[in-house]
Amino acid sequence: MSNVVILNHPLVNHKLTFIRSKDTNTKDFRENVGEIGGLMAYEISRDFKTKKLEIETPICKTTSEVLEKKVVIVPILRAGLGMVEGIHNMIPNAKIGHIGLYRDEETLEPKEYYAKFPEDIKESVVLLVDPMLATGGSASAAITMLKKRGIKDIKYVGLVGCPEGIKRLQKDHPDVNIYLAACDEKLNEKGYIVPGLGDCGDRLFGTK
Ligand code: PRP
Ligand code: URA
Repeated sequence: MSNVVILNHPLVNHKLTFIRSKDTNTKDFRENVGEIGGLMAYEISRDFKTKKLEIETPICKTTSEVLEKKVVIVPILRAGLGMVEGIHNMIPNAKIGHIGLYRDEETLEPKEYYAKFPEDIKESVVLLVDPMLATGGSASAAITMLKKRGIKDIKYVGLVGCPEGIKRLQKDHPDVNIYLAACDEKLNEKGYIVPGLGDCGDRLFGTK
């Protein structure tokens, strides 16, 4: 699991417990998903390259550091939207692209319905955001869509994954680092993560 980072952080775990509970309402669920996204931004950006910049403080001239590459956040619709604001608060200059995918409920195969990206995405670090890494089909298809457009520097950012999804992503895209808040036990026969948190899109948007 060399390209996988599981945060396993006390504060993140505390918030995860809250969103896992079926008794948490839509508003609290949405707020906590966003907050976890923000906390994860710190870990995701740990290996971002920086470049030197000459500046002048009120005291003297000095050389300091800024991010070398631009950052683009790409949520997979719908559920990925829930993590965007939290990450964007931490990286406010980031641009935002969108990928529309849904899982066919029978076959669990991802279906593409939308894609829109900033023009300079090829030169940027792309954070592909989707809370649930279940079979890994959606994330894998989304990464293929990004790579087809010549994008090379891609990191996958999710909340809850499972061994099946991690394995699939590592096989299909070994060059993509995977960041998760937690790795759960398994998938059930309907393709839901166990124990998981249920259908993330429905819980974020109150559609069920
Ligand atoms: C959920 C989730 C992921 C996908 C993960 O989306 O947000 O995109 O399932 O499953 P996978 O790893 O097996 O592909 P869903 O298809 O329910 O669409 P939604 O976000 O519109 O609710
Ligand atoms: N999508 C979800 O929203 N939840 C799961 O457990 C699996 C896929």
